[in-house]
Amino acid sequence: MRHLLEIDDLSSDDLLAILGHSEQPEPDPVLAGRGVALLFAKPSARTRSSMEMAVAQLGGHPVTIRGEEVGFDVRETVEDIGRTLTCYHAAIGARVFEHQLLERLAAASGVPVVNLLSDDAHPLQALADLLTIRQCLGGLAGRRLAYVGDANNVARSLGLACGLVGMGFRIASPDGFGFAEEDLDRLRATGCEPMTTNQPDEAVSGADVVYTDVWASMGQEDQIEDRRRTFAGFTVDDRLMALAQPESIFLHCLPAHRGEEVSAEVADGPRSRIWEQAENRMHTARGLLLWMCQE
Ligand code: CP
Ligand code: NVA
Repeated sequence: MRHLLEIDDLSSDDLLAILGHSEQPEPDPVLAGRGVALLFAKPSARTRSSMEMAVAQLGGHPVTIRGEEVGFDVRETVEDIGRTLTCYHAAIGARVFEHQLLERLAAASGVPVVNLLSDDAHPLQALADLLTIRQCLGGLAGRRLAYVGDANNVARSLGLACGLVGMGFRIASPDGFGFAEEDLDRLRATGCEPMTTNQPDEAVSGADVVYTDVWASMGQEDQIEDRRRTFAGFTVDDRLMALAQPESIFLHCLPAHRGEEVSAEVADGPRSRIWEQAENRMHTARGLLLWMCQE
């Protein structure tokens, strides 16, 4: 069974096959007459809508469930929720705080489990990021991506995805907000030699793609004031973008906070591809489900 809890659950070939499936104009209705359960313990605009539409486009029926409705480990165990949803659905997606909860769900479920974002990883976002880069730059291998900001769930999956497709990965984070050694080891296992720095200029110089994400992720809202002080100087603005390749693009998983991690001029400027990227969340969700349920 094919679960997707982190992007390196996939081989390079799997990943490229999913990107190929994502661009199929008339996919087979592999979910006809079947359901997909989508559990959300955190808010979502893109993930919920893109997954629901992807399921519908494959002929299936999405059932979105708020975390408090099922009450993970409160109303019943995560394992019993997984076993229950297996009775009705072809796959289960879940957005959770603790990543370990997904591992328990996958171990107990009789159908594939997809990570819709955890505190540790956001593999669905990485799929859309790669498709967007490939469409905008004409290829992936050899391109250089610079991530500026918090070494969070999005950065972790993105770095692994870059490694799997032979892209260079650089990350600039304030001291204390970079990757742990075990994250770097996992990145290196994909074949990537990540460049880490606390200097955004160093990471962005000559990059083909510049990427950022919020300074405080969901669940860290109480740290936002401290983080605003710590991350001052890490805003992706026109000055920083000028150090990247002339044809470089800007990406952001969204939601964006203009004036914090990115200036409005960059987010809404000529190099920004954030809306192509947001649309690709739907195409890559469909490509993933097609790959999971068809083969
Ligand atoms: N990028 C992303 O996952 O957006 P949502 O949190 O709105 O789903
Ligand atoms: N790092 C952000 C990503 C949101 C899509 C968060 O976890 O809130």
